[in-house]
Amino acid sequence: MTSIRMKLQPATAVDAPAMASAHAQAFDNPWTEATIEELLGGPGGYAFVALGEDPMGMIMCRALGGEAEVLTLAVPPWARRRGVASALMTAAIHRARAVDANQMFLEVDVDNAAAIGLYERLGFTHAGLRKAYYDRGARGRADALVMRLDLTLPTG
Ligand SMILES: CC(C)(COP(=O)(O)OP(=O)(O)OC[C@H]1O[C@@H](n2cnc3c(N)ncnc32)[C@H](O)[C@@H]1OP(=O)(O)O)[C@@H](O)C(=O)NCCC(=O)NCCS
Repeated sequence: MTSIRMKLQPATAVDAPAMASAHAQAFDNPWTEATIEELLGGPGGYAFVALGEDPMGMIMCRALGGEAEVLTLAVPPWARRRGVASALMTAAIHRARAVDANQMFLEVDVDNAAAIGLYERLGFTHAGLRKAYYDRGARGRADALVMRLDLTLPTG
């Protein structure tokens, strides 16, 4: 892992352009600034952004009724394998605990070995499968793995 200069901070609507930029570099179907702002302002919405000279990553979550959910996590290709996603996830988990969520869920494409590896390292376990959940255009549909983290367990 090479060292990086990164500022990780809770995101507000002001960060929507940076977050949209990071998201667009990571996904084929990028989220718009408007979508990001809407989720941020919605019930239980929260997010973190990693900033360097350019936006280095973003995570968006929702915590409601004792449960937290990761809505999206994105790190541009040039910033990967340097711990940015791990830092974003750790901040998101910390916040979920702070608002008394007792479990955190996320969905991930069954073929996304990078993300599944990241989540397993953080303690997430396999909780279910949603068949044909993702539309990958010409590449057809893909199943989503549902993963869960028990937030009541002590951190390792
Ligand atoms: C998945 C993603 C967020 C990982 O971001 P990242 O900043 O590179 O992740 P980190 O550097 O924190 O990686 C932490 C660990 O996750 C695992 N991991 C991350 N990328 C991996 C890869 N390409 N292959 C295998 N394991 C990987 C490794 O265990 C890694 O630790 P290591 O680098 O010490 O081996 C990034 O690749 C991404 O944005 N991908 C496209 C969008 C996406 O898939 N988002 C998640 C959707 S649910």
